[in-house]
Amino acid sequence: MSSYAQVYGDWQKDPEAFWGQAAKAVDWIDAPNKIFDSTQGPYGRWFPDATCNTCYNVLDRHVQNGRGDQDAIIYDSPVTNTKRKLTYAQVLDDVSALAAVLQDFGVQKGDRVIVYMPMIPEALIGMYACARIGAVHSVVFGGFAAKELATRIDDAKPKLVLTTSCGIEPGRVVAYKPLLDEAIRLSSSKPEKVILFAREQAKADMIEGRDYDWSSLVEAAKKAGKRAECVTVKATDPLYILYTSGTTGIPKGVVRDNGGHMVALTWTMKNLYGINPGEVFWSASDVGWVVGHSYIVYGPLLHGATTIVYEGKPIGTPDAGAFWRVIEEYKAVALFTAPTAFRAIRKEDPDATFLQKYSTKTLRTLFLAGERADPDTVAWAEKVLGVPVVDHWWQTETGWGIVGNPVGLGLLPIKHGSPTVPMPGYDVQIVDEAAKPLPNGQMGSIVIKLPLPPGCLPTLWQNDCRMKESYLEEFPGFYKTADAGFKDEDGYLFIMGRTDDIINVAGHRLSTGGMEEVLASHPAVAECAVIGIKDELKGEQPCGFVVLKSGVTQSPLEVEKEIVALVRNKIGPVAAFKIAITVNRLPKTRSGKILRGTMKKIADGDEWSTPATIDDPAILDEIAAALGSKGI
Ligand code: COA
Ligand code: AMP
Repeated sequence: MSSYAQVYGDWQKDPEAFWGQAAKAVDWIDAPNKIFDSTQGPYGRWFPDATCNTCYNVLDRHVQNGRGDQDAIIYDSPVTNTKRKLTYAQVLDDVSALAAVLQDFGVQKGDRVIVYMPMIPEALIGMYACARIGAVHSVVFGGFAAKELATRIDDAKPKLVLTTSCGIEPGRVVAYKPLLDEAIRLSSSKPEKVILFAREQAKADMIEGRDYDWSSLVEAAKKAGKRAECVTVKATDPLYILYTSGTTGIPKGVVRDNGGHMVALTWTMKNLYGINPGEVFWSASDVGWVVGHSYIVYGPLLHGATTIVYEGKPIGTPDAGAFWRVIEEYKAVALFTAPTAFRAIRKEDPDATFLQKYSTKTLRTLFLAGERADPDTVAWAEKVLGVPVVDHWWQTETGWGIVGNPVGLGLLPIKHGSPTVPMPGYDVQIVDEAAKPLPNGQMGSIVIKLPLPPGCLPTLWQNDCRMKESYLEEFPGFYKTADAGFKDEDGYLFIMGRTDDIINVAGHRLSTGGMEEVLASHPAVAECAVIGIKDELKGEQPCGFVVLKSGVTQSPLEVEKEIVALVRNKIGPVAAFKIAITVNRLPKTRSGKILRGTMKKIADGDEWSTPATIDDPAILDEIAAALGSKGI
């Protein structure tokens, strides 16, 4: 029997008592007397009078409590043939030394530090070092281009950047330093210093007086016996900023506080994921995404568990058995990944023959999130692994599961296609445009009654206005998730897609509006539209339509090639923008709105009808023909 209903009921009855109780799992410097203050911030703040240090909770207290020799981080990198285990004591040692180096460079509480690093333990060490001294880290994913990095630098105004010489993609070394140098050149707010972790796969050109070698600095600090102590911060002080796609080319700086974040993640480790301290929890994501922040970097260590930093892919590094090998080798009890990873494995090895080579007997649960988990993939994963496959739905903004199946409270019956039920903290409702609740079974906008629980974004970085505008104004009293879906008669949620221009490509969140800005910047382009079209592997892939300016002498094919290169160059390879199609005109309503929804239906082969408001219906046939000419 699951205790979910009782626990959710407890939260509903008295949210402050619920979170006050959950807060006891955290070591505070000043424990909270007040649990929630509705007068602060755009919708209120959690634990307003408490003080704490996140790094202390991640490392020091576990070392003090006897976990010093337990593995904290397991690094497994098939792309470099490296395996390394770091105990809690070792990580604490490295973090304290790096934090002292940061302090020597003048980084203080509240200063921002950009972390531009791939899946190596030093990325986590850098993040913990910032947390230790109260600096605010902002991690930028390695698959973004220099311009995206520059936008984040301009918004966060970092004092310093932590980086490395390269990331490694299968068959390709991604040199980070030239991208960073270009980003700093493009940005108006120049960081004073750069600390670079040199990897043997690429050499970095260092700028004297600005760039410093990570390993030498840390070694020297250790030799000199320098160690930074944990700096006291307010529970409401920011721990990090994580930029995520918004509806324009300017990403949103999602802020995470220290106190609420620790309380929420610690609660989830036991109750949602069913993990015990000392066990190995593997999240096969990237430190550049929210899943990486919450469940590679912070959640497992807050809970005294072991995390795996996997620098590889589900397939091709070297084969579709990679995930099973890692589970066997490190006795992982849970795996958390995006459905696209399982679609990739299934495509490569439909009969899961690689599973016969390995034992995954330690695995208790597979968790999926980041995009819709299609029932087919879920059923396949259940069949081959023989463990429950738990889909759960959340966003960068929330930092942890809004809707899930709480394994630790006792698993509820799984319905394929549904991430199950709201977690305590979330009153999830389906509403129409007028914010009126809709009956079960009817599709509408998914909203969350305010206040959001601990761990969710209190605001956007130095932009309360955009926070209110983006999330709080359309449905007064609620947070707008910008997802659409419905509830069934058992209260199970079904998440069907976004209501804005965000698309989800291989579990990566991307803005089509941002891509349109890039397309429009090409000198030959008069107008454009980018839509996400169905993709068997990645869920969706972007597809751009362009109308050329009259008098353009370049061939359409040439422009299309240039546009594909431009998106890669301006947004980055992660945009996976490969399809550009030149058309004579775009379908529009009589008021001039581009009919992206209808274009998407045509591309996806879904049923579609000509909208009554269309200016010229013939254009839809032109779009269908243009797609056909590209084999879509
Ligand atoms: N640094 C630099 N480039 C990166 C990168 C990184 N950290 N991550 C991805 N890229 C590049 C890829 O190399 C690829 O480049 P290419 O166009 O030259 O091939 C491009 O960005 C697109 O990457 P992706 O969409 O990931 O496709 P893929 O073909 O490389 O891999 C999967 C497909 C399904 C195997 C892969 O997407 C995957 O493992 N997904 C898991 C999803 C995930 O972890 N989501 C995070 C949220 S939970
Ligand atoms: P991100 O902020 O990158 O985590 O992306 C969040 C978005 O991904 C959500 O708003 C959803 O559109 C989508 N998403 C995440 N998890 C799920 C899920 N389990 N089911 C359906 N969509 C999901």
